[in-house]
Amino acid sequence: MCGIIAVTGVEDPLSTLLEGLELLEYRGYDSAGIALVTGEGDEAGLFRLRSAVRAQSIAELARLGAGAPRGRAGLGHTRWATHGAPTEENAHPHLDCTGRVAVVHNGIIENHRELAAKLDAAGHRRTSATDSEVVAHLVEAELETGADLLEAVRRSAAVLRGDYALAISYAGEPDTLVATRRTSPLIIGRTERAGVVASDIAAVLGTTRELYALGDGEIAVVRPGSLEVVDAAGEPVEPSPLRVAWGVQAARRDGYEDFMSKEIHEQPRALADTLLERVLPEGTTELEELAAFEDELRRVERVVVVACGSSFHAGEIGRLALERWAKLPATAEIASEFRYREPVLDDRTLVVAISQSGETVDTYHALAEAARRGARTMAITNVVDSLMAREADAVIYTRAGPEIGVASTKCHVAQIILFQVFALHLARLRGSLGEDELARLAREIEALPGLVAEALGRSDEYAAVAARLAEVNDVFFLGRNVGYPVALEGALKLKELAYVRAEAYAAGEMKHGPISLIDRHAVAVVVANRGALWPKLLANIEEIKARGATVVAVTDEGDEETGRLADHVLEVPATDELLAPVVSVVPLQVLAYSVAKARGNDVDRPRNLAKVVTVE
Ligand code: M6R
Repeated sequence: MCGIIAVTGVEDPLSTLLEGLELLEYRGYDSAGIALVTGEGDEAGLFRLRSAVRAQSIAELARLGAGAPRGRAGLGHTRWATHGAPTEENAHPHLDCTGRVAVVHNGIIENHRELAAKLDAAGHRRTSATDSEVVAHLVEAELETGADLLEAVRRSAAVLRGDYALAISYAGEPDTLVATRRTSPLIIGRTERAGVVASDIAAVLGTTRELYALGDGEIAVVRPGSLEVVDAAGEPVEPSPLRVAWGVQAARRDGYEDFMSKEIHEQPRALADTLLERVLPEGTTELEELAAFEDELRRVERVVVVACGSSFHAGEIGRLALERWAKLPATAEIASEFRYREPVLDDRTLVVAISQSGETVDTYHALAEAARRGARTMAITNVVDSLMAREADAVIYTRAGPEIGVASTKCHVAQIILFQVFALHLARLRGSLGEDELARLAREIEALPGLVAEALGRSDEYAAVAARLAEVNDVFFLGRNVGYPVALEGALKLKELAYVRAEAYAAGEMKHGPISLIDRHAVAVVVANRGALWPKLLANIEEIKARGATVVAVTDEGDEETGRLADHVLEVPATDELLAPVVSVVPLQVLAYSVAKARGNDVDRPRNLAKVVTVE
């Protein structure tokens, strides 16, 4: 969703802003803009360019920027429309009435109507339909009272309600950027001569690795080579440094046709890195980050997982492992529903938020709500020091590297494996599994990166099956037990990438209604790894076949019995029943990818979707 980049003190602000915008575009956007502060003293002013030609907007800015005056500092923004259509007028940066204040905003100003009415009554002229523009006019009004930019922003932020990250430039203080945030994240970077503000680590790594995460309600004043941070009351605070394990190269395509294929092929590495020094062959699990949290974990009587999309599917798989191995009652809930219920929680309930970005607004608020209700909280995320990492009592990180493709692949499998390690960890703490079983599972988990690499070695076979499905418009995904969340994930991937209507069912539910949709035009993808319910799944396949549907089965290698029933097979290496999702999701990713490509779709930026969902 919206992305922010702001720079000061760099050699060529326009090019740095454009590079930053390109690194932010994966978040999803439909318009973009930049504002440069130009000139000196009385001559200082703002030069603004905006474009709303959707995915071409950044290229359009680069073209228009060829004749731009040299800037001293500047703001850039990618917008994913929420309030107001994706038009040039609504694209950021927004200016005040004097054209000397520029604002970029990520999030939602909930009380913008009330503020706009007051500003309109005071004679301000707004030119967009956005909630964001009010901020430029609020700052303008404060500057008119004689405040400097920091004070003007501090006072303006005090009247805002909602979630926001803001970066602001003012021609009266041409080298200064002021930034503030509530809920939506902001990162500040510094070098000896420059300063940068961004909503996303990916956008700043090309400039500096000296990074700071701005705290909730804090205000940063960034000047070339200097950074000052104050709290909402204006009192100085120490900026909090941010650790980043990867470089800017990790956020590039590296010779692959698209980020999604790169990320699919990075899965063995993502899994191996996530496991590194966390599972030892004798069954010992080392989750260093949880060392200080172990007493709390021993007291836990129930686990509730909250997440959205693919992360929710990982949670569904994880909670089954918790039940079976750690013998703990565990449920997984869609974060956007959970946050508005009245969940009954106590200090013996552990609420685990799973999120690749650590920023998804629904999951973040579900986590915060759980904490308010007295639960212990933990985050599983890929982004170090992200919002959820900071909010939770404890955090464990997947180490998948940056995921740029909108469809989650390597982060999804890393979430599953990390949750399984966590479940094993709890099983050991609670003494719910014997030493032999712990050691067996540990060995099986350690083998998973290799098995995923083997599955990827079969990508051409998976793509060949996909080629036969390129024209279908309705697909059912079926599974049982741990295969059901894999079916959910397969259906989500096909929907979001190939725009094919795909529904997932727990196979046992088919007879309770959905089977009436099955006829000879239907295609059913069945996740049929061998497990306790495998014989029942074969019976479900028979029922579907009897009604004329085409069956594609994900099977364990060498499983001829299932192979004989299915029309097409997607073979994967066999592993323990509960670990199988890490491997069996791979052919479903390749299937969705291949069907999407065959239909000419942009797999990295599917229509209507954003990588990071920062609004409700
Ligand atoms: O960053 P998160 O893991 O919290 O994101 C959650 C979902 O938005 C995400 O998994 C989404 O469903 C992906 N597009 C799935 O591929």
